Amino acid sequence: MTEQSPALDNLLTESRTFPPSEEFAAQANAKADLYAEADADREAFWAKQAERLTWDTKWTTVLDWTNAPFAKWFVGGKLNVAYNCVDRHVESGHGDQVAIHWVGEPGDTRDITYAELKTEVSKAANALTSLGVTAGDVVAIQLQMVPEAIFAMLACARIGALHSVVFGGFSPTALRARVDDAAAKLVITSDGQFRRGKAAPMKANVDEALQGAETVEKVIVVKRTGDQLEGEVPWTEGRDLWWHDLVDGQSEEHTPEAFDSEHPLFILYTSGTTGKPKGILHTSGGYLTQTAYTHHNVFDHKAGEDVYWCTADIGWITGHSYIVYGPLANRVTQVVYEGTPNTPHEGRHWEIIQKYKVSIYYTAPTLIRTFMKWGAEIPEKYDLSSLRVLGSVGEPINPEAWIWYRENIGAGKTPIVDTWWQTETGAIMISPLPGVTAAKPGSAQKALPGISAKVVDDQGNEVGPGGGGYLVLDKPWPSMLRGVWGDEERFKETYWSRFSEQGFYFAGDGAKYDNDGDVWLLGRVDDVMNVSGHRISTTEVESALVSHPTVAEAAVVGATDPTTGQGIVAFVILRGNAVDGGDEAVQELRNHVAKEIGPIAKPRQIMVVPELPKTRSGKIMRRLLRDVAENRQVGDVTTLADSSVMDLISSGLKSGK
Ligand code: PRX
Repeated sequence: MTEQSPALDNLLTESRTFPPSEEFAAQANAKADLYAEADADREAFWAKQAERLTWDTKWTTVLDWTNAPFAKWFVGGKLNVAYNCVDRHVESGHGDQVAIHWVGEPGDTRDITYAELKTEVSKAANALTSLGVTAGDVVAIQLQMVPEAIFAMLACARIGALHSVVFGGFSPTALRARVDDAAAKLVITSDGQFRRGKAAPMKANVDEALQGAETVEKVIVVKRTGDQLEGEVPWTEGRDLWWHDLVDGQSEEHTPEAFDSEHPLFILYTSGTTGKPKGILHTSGGYLTQTAYTHHNVFDHKAGEDVYWCTADIGWITGHSYIVYGPLANRVTQVVYEGTPNTPHEGRHWEIIQKYKVSIYYTAPTLIRTFMKWGAEIPEKYDLSSLRVLGSVGEPINPEAWIWYRENIGAGKTPIVDTWWQTETGAIMISPLPGVTAAKPGSAQKALPGISAKVVDDQGNEVGPGGGGYLVLDKPWPSMLRGVWGDEERFKETYWSRFSEQGFYFAGDGAKYDNDGDVWLLGRVDDVMNVSGHRISTTEVESALVSHPTVAEAAVVGATDPTTGQGIVAFVILRGNAVDGGDEAVQELRNHVAKEIGPIAKPRQIMVVPELPKTRSGKIMRRLLRDVAENRQVGDVTTLADSSVMDLISSGLKSGK
């Protein structure tokens, strides 16, 4: 197990607790007895939660775990996910309720009611069908936060096609790897995207990605930047279609078909410990049940009253589960914002909260720390009194950021829910309940009712109060991943082999119990970094670096970073003994990584070194490199094949920013 950084250990010295006010507790969706109810009969509990959804055919068995680790939930049940997120709200008389207050980065806005959403999704579903997309096909979507991204996802769900959303910031190489792995038949993208006031190309990147891609038959292009984008939008006749040309003329009628509860809903790629991203597969009934259940209870969401805003991008699981599926199944009214938080000014989020009277706000610690840097006087200028629940996700939140969030955004009184979960878990697993839990800054605290998590030692034995070890999930849950796309072995190996005897799911996170038995997450214990809440594997960045002609060898570590949680620090050996990696060479390498993977994977720092620290068996000792990257005294070097290497590295460092 990788040692934890000292900064994370400091988390455990925080001892203040913040119980909900009596007023909040009295009106909360979730009361304390939810835990006992779930414990008494887990399957009955989940069956009750599944009743939140509208099923065409009711299930016969709640859980089939006989073929573990491949779970089946709500076996025999049939439903249409898009119908549950859209049509049923119109049918129950809420067609005029705003589903989405969309805010474009340049300041344009669009309010979309449930009736309009139904029309848009139906037209898009008809459009996909007209192109020959059928149930089980894969549609890749690389789009920024425009309404069409949501229409497209729901249109896929409606016809039983799987979407594979690829974050807009991923490079052509990364997009292509994902398109090929899932054999996507169609790609949906836009001409360009607004980023910090400028129009940047999207379609041109997609075209670069798709050169020679054999499975892709059509590319649908949403017009967003139009003539504000410099140059022509590259176009392949016969393959490319404008969204408006294709979709606008379609019929507004579309009858949703019911699919099996275990019908695949989507694939979402995430970084693992190897260079190749894993396509995480989620299915329909269990996923929608748990995303809806958690959205209702963790955020205390009241349909028709609250205005909700999750600031994630739909390119990540948080966008899938807490912008699209859970919230829409619960008839949310939500803000969807296209742009960055400081365009055109650093008060943009607060301005939006004030304008739309946002009551539930869900964001990431890295952004909270950025807001702290920008200064409390910025949010102070806005009326944030509509806020009543704040959420955090993506990485451990340090107590200082937690307190700042509560004081400056939550007026010193809103509950904060620190939600732990993963792409693989599909929905929130460990979190306070806002009307029940006395919150502890920095701790995600308890597994939700119906969920079971444990902190165990190397042997899989649960540790006692105050003890630390690995976080495992010891019982199946409805929104669990159903596999890694096309790679059954990798699924078993990655998640289920570490504690195969006990049958535990190994999350890859280190964790501790405090003396009250609350869980504190301590970061990844594998070679996965967490940069601004984004998962990036060290191997992925290393492969990108060594694909550059000047690099002989590379080792990458995640070093503690005050804003982004971790920053990527790379150590490289240049070819032909070119040890004089000057600033330009370093800059070139940083750009190369951005090109190979995407700007989010750009190393914060690259150090050119003559050697890398290796054990006798040739394994790179990242622990020692982390010491260097974090400016610490280098730890125990006795297992190094050549113990003088660290001196060489420390004395010969050339670094670049
Ligand atoms: O290390 C944990 C961290 O993010 C990882 C999952 O990343 P991803 O699949 O990209 O999903 C992020 C959004 C759900 C976890 O293994 N993580 C996520 N939430 C928290 C967290 N670490 C501590 N506290 C959290 N609340």
